[in-house]
Amino acid sequence: MKRAIVIGATSGIGKRMAEILAADGYRVGITGRRKVNLEKIHQSNPQAFVFRAFDVQDVDTSQRMIHELIEELGGLDLLVYSSGNGEMNKELDFDKEHNIIKTNVIGFTNCITFVYRYFMQHGGGQIAAITSVSGLRGNPEYAAYFSTKGYQILYLESLRIKSKKDKLNIQITELRPGFINTIDRSKVQDAPIFWMTSLEKATRQMYRSIKRKEEVAYISRRWVIIGILMKIFPRRLWDMLPF
Ligand SMILES: NC(=O)c1ccc[n+]([C@@H]2O[C@H](COP(=O)([O-])OP(=O)(O)OC[C@H]3O[C@@H](n4cnc5c(N)ncnc54)[C@H](OP(=O)(O)O)[C@@H]3O)[C@@H](O)[C@H]2O)c1
Repeated sequence: MKRAIVIGATSGIGKRMAEILAADGYRVGITGRRKVNLEKIHQSNPQAFVFRAFDVQDVDTSQRMIHELIEELGGLDLLVYSSGNGEMNKELDFDKEHNIIKTNVIGFTNCITFVYRYFMQHGGGQIAAITSVSGLRGNPEYAAYFSTKGYQILYLESLRIKSKKDKLNIQITELRPGFINTIDRSKVQDAPIFWMTSLEKATRQMYRSIKRKEEVAYISRRWVIIGILMKIFPRRLWDMLPF
């Protein structure tokens, strides 16, 4: 039986990915801060799910909990990293920026490198992480979110190159979504959202990309067009966009 850990499985993409993995025969370690959500998922299929509640901002606890999950699962084949946060911060309130950086940079790097080192010592495995097309350019209203997603994109690329150079059996899969309908957005936003992908379609495509061991996958696929346009869009014009 294959074994996976999903970091950030209490809601949204991570929760659905954990369910898909369990349905496909994985034993899955699930994490997040909301213990009650983890308990509910565990109760839905106690054979498939084990869980630990922790905050990825706490680096020592995160390492200890991931270690415990790996022991409980009897090894690890796949890590899916889905934890993430980001909020509008036009005022550049530092506490808000700091909170995003601690989750999307410190927590991300700590969990991913811990598992990378585990895979180095145990014959390999796969790390899949959810970034965002937001990571391709800057945004004045979400400076920390866009920047930390950019960090994640380059960090995963660095690990992929490292794994190849060191001839390790570690596959890195970067899942790069556009907009995914994980919440009832009618409650938070009136305007329709451009090219929104349903959670079901998005997570199906993510799992297919993981199984194919793709290096970078836009979710949904057509977001590759936006990704290319964002990369080549002239800076002066980008700066003039009505964010
Ligand atoms: N939805 C989209 O349109 C979209 C688009 C592009 C990229 N993404 C990325 O996809 C990932 C998942 O997002 P989502 O839409 O599924 O959001 P979500 O429903 O809010 O899920 C976020 C997950 O991250 C966990 N998390 C957040 N902060 C944490 C912390 N400090 N410690 C531990 N766990 C933490 C949450 O668990 P707890 O709250 O229980 O801790 C939750 O399980 C994120 O990285 C996001 O940036 C989403």
